[in-house]
This record gives sequence, C-alpha cells and structure tokens, in this order.
Amino acid sequence: MNAPYLGPELFTWEFASDPYPAYAWLREHAPVHRTTLPSGVEAWLVTRYADAKQALADQRLSKNPVHHSEDAHGKSKTGIPGERSANLMTHLLNIDPPDHTRLRRLVSKAFTPRRVAEFTTRVQELTDQLIDQFAHKGSADLIHEFAFPLPIYAICDLLGVPREDQDDFRDWAGMMIRHGGGPRGGVARSVKKMRGYLAELIHRKREALPDTPSPGEDLISGLIRASDHGEHLTENEAAAMCFVLLFAGFETTINLIGNGTYALLRNPKQRAQLQKSIERGEQELLDTGIEELLRYDGPVELATWRYATEPLDIGGQHIASGDPVLVVLAAADRDPARFDEPDTLDLSRRDNQHLGYGHGIHYCLGAPLARLEGRTALATLLRRLPDLRLAADPADLRWRGGLIMRGLRNLPVEFTAVR
Ligand code: HEM
Repeated sequence: MNAPYLGPELFTWEFASDPYPAYAWLREHAPVHRTTLPSGVEAWLVTRYADAKQALADQRLSKNPVHHSEDAHGKSKTGIPGERSANLMTHLLNIDPPDHTRLRRLVSKAFTPRRVAEFTTRVQELTDQLIDQFAHKGSADLIHEFAFPLPIYAICDLLGVPREDQDDFRDWAGMMIRHGGGPRGGVARSVKKMRGYLAELIHRKREALPDTPSPGEDLISGLIRASDHGEHLTENEAAAMCFVLLFAGFETTINLIGNGTYALLRNPKQRAQLQKSIERGEQELLDTGIEELLRYDGPVELATWRYATEPLDIGGQHIASGDPVLVVLAAADRDPARFDEPDTLDLSRRDNQHLGYGHGIHYCLGAPLARLEGRTALATLLRRLPDLRLAADPADLRWRGGLIMRGLRNLPVEFTAVR
C-alpha cells in the first residue's frame, strides 16, 4: 500500500521558485498546518485569507520572541537572529502593547505621509540616476543594478545619513541580505557596524539639533524631537527604530521592484496596458497595478513571527500556549474564497484588500514610502526602456530562500540601449 500523501514538500528548491501550488494544497487540505521549518523549529502555518487576517490582529499572538521562544529547558526554540540581544532588536516588530503603542505613536509623528510625499522628487532623481548607469549597455541585472540600491539610498536620504557614508550602508545591507538568517559571521559584523554608526549619528544629531524644526528636517532629527505626553525616544530606542526602518524597508522594496517587474515581463498583455497608460500620463492603473503586484507575488511571503500567549483556536485548529504561528501572506492573498481568479494578474483589480502590508497594529509603517518607490521605479523603467525583456529562462532564475521574504537573486534583462 502507498503511504498516505501528507502534502507537498515545503521549503525545498522547487518550492522556493513557485510556492503557490503547495499553498493551494495547504489552503484546501490543511489550512492551519504544523510543520518543521528548515531550522528544526516547529511552527503553525496559517494559509486561508480569513484565518490569516484574524490571526494578524489577534492580541493573544505576541510578537515578543524573548518572552515566548524559550522552551521548558530555557533553550531557544526559534533561533531567529538576535532574539536574545536587546538593543537593536527591541523594535516595533518584536514588541507588544503598551510598548508598541508608545513607540509606534512616536515614530508616526516623525515618519508622516507628508514627509514621504516631500520626498517624491528625490526618489525620481535616484531612480533616473540608477537607470542612467546601465541604460547605455542594452542589458542589466535589475536586482543588483536597480532594485537593490534604490531603497537603500532612499531610506538613507530620508533618515539623514550623509551621502558620503551611504555606500557603507549599501555594503552592510548587502551582507545582511546575502547571508540573512544567521546571527554569526559577516552578518553579525555588519549589524554591529551599523549599530555603531547609527548610535554615533543619532548622538551627533541630538547635540546639533536647533530649538525649532527646519522644513527639510531629516527623519532622525524628527525622531529625536518627537514627543508623546512629554516622553521622547531614548537614543537606544531611536537607534532600534532606525534599524527596523532600514531592515523592514529595504529587502521588501527590492522584492516589490524585482517580483513586480518579473510579473509584468511574464504577463505581456497586462504590461502593454500599463505601459500605454503610463505613456498617457495616467495614474490610475499604476496605482491599482502596484497593489495587484503586491497581492499576486508580494515581497513578504510570511509575516514575521508570532507566539501564542495562551491556548487558542485558529480555523478550528487548537494551538498550544508558546507555539510559534506564521501567517502565510502569499497563500492568503491567493485564496479563491476572497479573490476572483486569484492566480491571474489583473492590474485593474479593484476589490483588492490584500494582506501584503500585514493587518492590525503592526500594519506596515512604511507603506506610503514603499508605494512611492514602487510606482516611481516601475513607471520609469517602462517609460525609459519600453522594450524591456527578460534575458533568461524563468527556470534558471534563482529565488532567495529565506523564510519571511520572497524575492529573486537576479533578474537579467535586455533592451535597446539608450545613449
Ligand atoms: C511592517 C510589508 C516596505 C517599515 C510590515 C509588515 C508587513 C510589511 C507585511 C507587517 C509584519 C507583521 O505583522 O509581522 C512591507 C512591504 C513593503 C514594505 C510588502 C514593500 C513593498 C516598508 C518600508 C518601510 C517599512 C519602505 C520603512 C522605511 C515597516 C515597519 C514595520 C513594517 C517599521 C513594523 C510596524 C509595526 O510593527 O508596528 N511591513 N513593508 N516597510 N514595515 Fe513594511
């Protein structure tokens, strides 16, 4: 007799390049599924839209790994980077109310949609400068030459990191995503250097801060100045905040540009419609299109870790106290119970409340910046390189195998060179 089929194999090479068939199986047969992650940790995967949305907003699921990742013998159950170190890791994505509420309120005073809107011209300038560097060649690797540097320079500018230091950030961030997932070796050194740099920069800016804010004030100065009922961020909290802004806003945006461009290149009719609409100077299809690209093949495959603080049920499945729960955004956003023809890319989709930016109190703080960068990057690429095409067999493309993020390692393209 054949062994019973227990579902598709997760976290393999094939799975990394196309996880969607496996997620469809899980949604149907095992919507809340206990699995062993590559690290050996056991966790629940939540794959249906309704369950996912509910879990993201459930306050019984804590974000605090220090509190919930110790088993009875005091051993780490998750092994996630930095879970034991306070300092930089005590940031929004690792804390619960009331600390989360206080820190989020403070950062929201400095990181406002208005501050992002004022940044529009700079994002366009950066985008054009990067394209200028490869437009004459007729070919490029869009990840390395475009999607990777754009968000790092953008966030450095926004924070107020001087231009002459930004290439250091580029190197540290590159090290962190190339070897992400482990606290050892080069990654640990990069995190340490970034921490040292940020601590010093924050200190310098605090000392130099004038009494009244200036109109073009950078985000770090805004963070230092922000106060809530007379309370300010400590220098350490400000450093952790800058770190989470970099860390949460950087690989995600690379993947929005990378996965988004790739999806457009694989869907020529949709791409042609978008291109026409951009040439006519219209905004609407670009706006709905970015949301659809986030739904269709979003940058964040699984939301960051959550831990049950008490026994609870999700989708009829019992979860024990202390168990890690991973909400699979990529699976929820292809749920046919929520989206018509979920596996079809439809840039004009209107009924599109996807979970690509999460949901609830941890909803992405950087969504306005991500949207600005995504819109600018894709529109400028299609406008300036109108015959952009893939220069590799899709089967040869490599996806970065991390747990949380979904993104390409490289994206070779060709186009008519522009002088
Ligand atoms: C939170 C997605 C860009 C900063 C989140 C979460 C998601 C997400 C899914 C919630 C995680 C969870 O609940 O476990 C994305 C995507 C982006 C993007 C898809 C790009 C397309 C950015 C940018 C920034 C940023 C550009 C900042 C510069 C943050 C921060 C949080 C967050 C600080 C934590 C908020 C909190 O815990 O209160 N993001 N993000 N993100 N994101 Fe983004």
